[in-house]
Amino acid sequence: MSKNLVAYFSASGTTKEVAEVLANAASADLFEIKPAKPYTREDLNWTNKNSRSYIEMNNPKSRPEIASKVENIEDYNTIFVGFPVWWYVAPTIINTFLESYDFSGKTIVLFATSGGSGLGRSGEVLQKCVDKSTKIVSGKVLNGRATEKSLKSWIDSLNI
Ligand SMILES: Cc1cc2nc3c(=O)[nH]c(=O)nc-3n(C[C@H](O)[C@H](O)[C@H](O)COP(=O)(O)O)c2cc1C
Repeated sequence: MSKNLVAYFSASGTTKEVAEVLANAASADLFEIKPAKPYTREDLNWTNKNSRSYIEMNNPKSRPEIASKVENIEDYNTIFVGFPVWWYVAPTIINTFLESYDFSGKTIVLFATSGGSGLGRSGEVLQKCVDKSTKIVSGKVLNGRATEKSLKSWIDSLNI
């Protein structure tokens, strides 16, 4: 049977909340993309050019290490991948995640939370991390309107 997975990174808890509701709405398994080295408050200070997040987001080669792996990725056909928008795109740990598995022929649906920005060029940037046969759907920013009901109708509208 084809299964769904919701995999998310959340530095301060907002995306985690949405991911949990989405996993229920999609009857999906849930996987947290946990950094091997957690982000501290100072790491997340976007006004400081020496902060970890600032440095990582300015280095296209940055691939922060992930603490654990999805055991059975081949079981999933659709993988929802969620993250906070950082500097108008996905944090580079999402690149690490996408480059860690073979997603050939699978569908990846992006979702995010943000301070107001949309997904920007995230889909385009992340397509480079996966095979050409992987379909990336540049889903949605789900700020403050993530009820299970609304997410169910969103998933239905995706036709996946
Ligand atoms: C380093 C950094 C960069 C950010 N860049 C943006 C941005 O470009 N646009 C935006 O709307 N919000 C931005 N934000 C705000 C986060 O996207 C927002 O607070 C998000 O909901 C946090 O999710 P989390 O609690 O799951 O980590 C940024 C936050 C951080 C820490």
